[in-house]
Amino acid sequence: MSILVTGGTGYIGSHTCVDFIEKGKEVIILDNLSNSKAEVVDYIEQITSVRPKFYEIDLLDRDGVKKVFDENDIDTVIHFAGLKAVGESVAKPVEYYHNNITGTLNLLFEMRDHNCFNLVFSSSATVYGKPESVPIREDFPLSTTNPYGTTKLYIERILEDLCIADDRFSVVLLRYFNPIGAHESGLIGDNPNGIPNNLMPYVTRVAKGKLPHLNVFGNDYETHDGTGVRDYIHVLDLASGHFSALKALEKRGVSVYNLGTGNGYSVLDIVNAFERVNGIRIPYQITERRKGDIAECFADASKAERELGWKATRGLDEMCASAWNFEKIH
Ligand code: NAD
Ligand code: UFG
Repeated sequence: MSILVTGGTGYIGSHTCVDFIEKGKEVIILDNLSNSKAEVVDYIEQITSVRPKFYEIDLLDRDGVKKVFDENDIDTVIHFAGLKAVGESVAKPVEYYHNNITGTLNLLFEMRDHNCFNLVFSSSATVYGKPESVPIREDFPLSTTNPYGTTKLYIERILEDLCIADDRFSVVLLRYFNPIGAHESGLIGDNPNGIPNNLMPYVTRVAKGKLPHLNVFGNDYETHDGTGVRDYIHVLDLASGHFSALKALEKRGVSVYNLGTGNGYSVLDIVNAFERVNGIRIPYQITERRKGDIAECFADASKAERELGWKATRGLDEMCASAWNFEKIH
């Protein structure tokens, strides 16, 4: 039996494919390449010596999705495919709802038609909205502040309703905190098109001289140095969290886990660590707060450790070194 990885040529998906292949799983990738490149399949092959089957198909093309299930024995889906830029989602809500929600519905129809009932879904800490306290536990209230976040929350609800209606389904919702870093080969990593929205790819592009300086969005938050605090997790730790999550699929119904480290680092902590580890200065300017940002967001990740035996092991230095190694090569 094979595992279908939607969005498998993307940032987190490609690292997860490598992890699964190295652990002996057969993966099949489906991606429409809207935010990734076909070469990623070559890189996965270079790293693992196994070339996964790749379908360049859009989840919005239901016949295309059907063909993938018709041609393969798929028993589990790891569903990464989706649009993820918060600002763009505010400007193009209909496109975001259509891509993320209709794409997921097409996937669910074809899974059901092909007796495939195991799904791991890429959710996000964004579903906690503005949390009242940190660290954030899975049972905290859910809300959203932008259409991207709302697609994640709606999909979580759809999957819960599906599991109530059809007890053959097992679904794991993984709420990711802030993945950064890259595979040690430097072949795969976070490679956003255009000007990056997220902190680490912005920092690496400043380091490379492609951007003049980092804008630090606010230094008047109630945090230890006034800049925003987040739970940065090495993408390889996040990837291995998916493998651990397979265990939770043995139980019917919906399970939910935070995937984070439980540590919070500020923007300036990241800048300082990056400079120290890589020996490169990152010029920065303090600017206005970014609309919608919160002061602090970090996980209580103890449920995943308790129930899945999963824990992030890589530290901030490794995250900064690998992110720069990737940027240098690309
Ligand atoms: P990414 O953009 O690198 O990967 C997503 C992949 O999905 C891309 O390769 C894209 O081409 C593909 N895709 C998008 N729409 C598609 C469609 N309709 N049909 C087929 N393929 C499609 O993003 P990522 O950082 O690897 O994120 C993966 C998942 O994790 C996303 O669902 C994202 O929302 C979620 N997530 C990411 C973060 C983060 O900080 N990176 C945090 C929380 C949650
Ligand atoms: N930041 C800057 N300058 C930048 C970019 C970011 O100062 O150029 C700051 C932000 O204000 C924030 C921190 O760096 O304090 C992290 O910002 P990111 O944009 O990297 O990450 P966010 O926490 O805002 O959001 C990310 C994803 C969301 C996801 C969330 C999960 O973009 O989609 O992590 O925790 F939902």
